[in-house]
Amino acid sequence: MPVAAPYDEIADWYESVFLARQRADAGPDGFADALGIDQALVELLGTGEGICLEVGCGTGICAERVRQLGWQPVGVDLSSGMLRHARGRLPVLRADGGQLPFPTGSFGAAMTVMVHTDLPDYAPVLTEIRRVLKPGGVFVHIGVHPCFCGGFANRSDADGILIRPGYLDGAWTNDSWTDQGIRDKVGATHLPLADLVNTMIRTGFHLERMTEGGQPTPVVLSARARRPALDGV
Ligand SMILES: C[S@@+](CC[C@H](N)C(=O)[O-])C[C@H]1O[C@@H](n2cnc3c(N)ncnc32)[C@H](O)[C@@H]1O
Repeated sequence: MPVAAPYDEIADWYESVFLARQRADAGPDGFADALGIDQALVELLGTGEGICLEVGCGTGICAERVRQLGWQPVGVDLSSGMLRHARGRLPVLRADGGQLPFPTGSFGAAMTVMVHTDLPDYAPVLTEIRRVLKPGGVFVHIGVHPCFCGGFANRSDADGILIRPGYLDGAWTNDSWTDQGIRDKVGATHLPLADLVNTMIRTGFHLERMTEGGQPTPVVLSARARRPALDGV
């Protein structure tokens, strides 16, 4: 049975309203970075060669930076609506991150950017990413910060974020403090911090480094992890 792709409904809004809002704040280098996503990508992926697979590439907004770092970006996403916008930015394929159509050990690098909260369960996607990485391959996770974002967090006052009970529940919700964002439209899964980190460890990644982005309270939590070099293909 085909997996539903909720982003089909909002793909045009995502590209022309949501991302356009961020692009309006682009710096002199042309990269917008209000949330610290671009900085995390530069710091954690770093320069390299070969193909970098982005799972949940959406409209392909990260492809230009990946290419500038020396990698060849390739994207997969569940939503054909999102991929329609991505096609001009990188080679793409419609696929479920939990069933990647690539042989084991194909890629030197892989990444997910603001995707884990769109998945009912991150573990099957991480397991697949680990499988398609070469031993020693790098994986970059960039995602919504679990501590300060979610249905339990009211961010309407940037100087005083209100954390209500609910952080530990780990539930799906479309409750949101704003109607200008994504969660009120397609919903989001909340994964508490320890569950997120433990899921990466349990699926066989070696964690190397973490960063936090966004001011004055972080919006994004990111990690660089690796498929162990001595892992058999
Ligand atoms: C918030 S968007 C992020 C898109 C892009 N990475 C960015 O930073 O703009 C989340 C994306 O994950 C995709 N997605 C959700 N579940 C997926 C799955 N199981 N496999 C592949 N992509 C998925 C959605 O279709 C959507 O394009």
